[in-house]
Amino acid sequence: MAQIIDGRAMARALSAETTARVEALRTRTGHAPALAVVLVGGDPASEVYVRRKIAECCKAGILSVEHRLPADTAQATLLDLIERLNLDGDIDGILIQLPLPEQIDAALVLDRIDPAKDVDGFHPVNVGRLSTGTGGLVPCTPLGVMKLLDSVVDDYRGLDVVVIGKSNIVGKPVAMLLLEREATVTVTHIETRGLPDVARKADIIVAAAGVPHLVRGYWVKPGAIVIDVGITRIMQEDGSTRLVGDCAMEELAHARAVTPVPGGVGPMTIACLLSNTVTAAERARHE
Ligand code: GUN
Repeated sequence: MAQIIDGRAMARALSAETTARVEALRTRTGHAPALAVVLVGGDPASEVYVRRKIAECCKAGILSVEHRLPADTAQATLLDLIERLNLDGDIDGILIQLPLPEQIDAALVLDRIDPAKDVDGFHPVNVGRLSTGTGGLVPCTPLGVMKLLDSVVDDYRGLDVVVIGKSNIVGKPVAMLLLEREATVTVTHIETRGLPDVARKADIIVAAAGVPHLVRGYWVKPGAIVIDVGITRIMQEDGSTRLVGDCAMEELAHARAVTPVPGGVGPMTIACLLSNTVTAAERARHE
């Protein structure tokens, strides 16, 4: 059987480290790290994510300041709020929950966040720093993916990695992080020709297409490592819902290690958000 990489346990360990960093910062400077969380509208999935992020901040001793705006908020109003948060010395991190309503240009909004407070790592400055390997804040899910992989991989040099999905949030940044470790990275997507054959050559597959059960057993080489980033809520016959990943996990017994959904990448994403917030707070105080 494939080893199951326990994202919940790893997230607990990372959050314990983050909690210790919060305490240390508070002792040295008297300042508790603070994260502003902005939610525009009432998208149900976003509500769940935001609630979870705030609860985890609270457990780690990070102050969270919630800003809830109605779905019909004008872009200028949101930009004003970001400007105030940028200037607020007590706020270390700013998180604008995506997706934003359609009257708002998300790229423009993300562009206005102070890169030093951009704990999501979505600002073009942080994207550029990631692609040149020059520091900056790294997006939470890709950072979590790397920590999960680090628990089973010592040396990435020359390994064949296939990333499925080309999003700005996961596919592209995770490819950059793996290139930095000198893996041979192939970024694929739903239009890639012969995707099962491409995937089957991989030592590591990172599945981030958002397509339930896309990756089947025959796509995976025996002994490969599979990180499942997909989280889709599907309706079952009895009317209840269930979270499913991008991989048909029951067909992956021949893999060396896999991440479950739920309980794999998801908890690590939130733990990395907390860690990024404390990193931003430490840097703001020149530590
Ligand atoms: N919506 C879905 N994933 C994310 C994320 O990582 N950050 C933010 N801000 N919004 C999201």
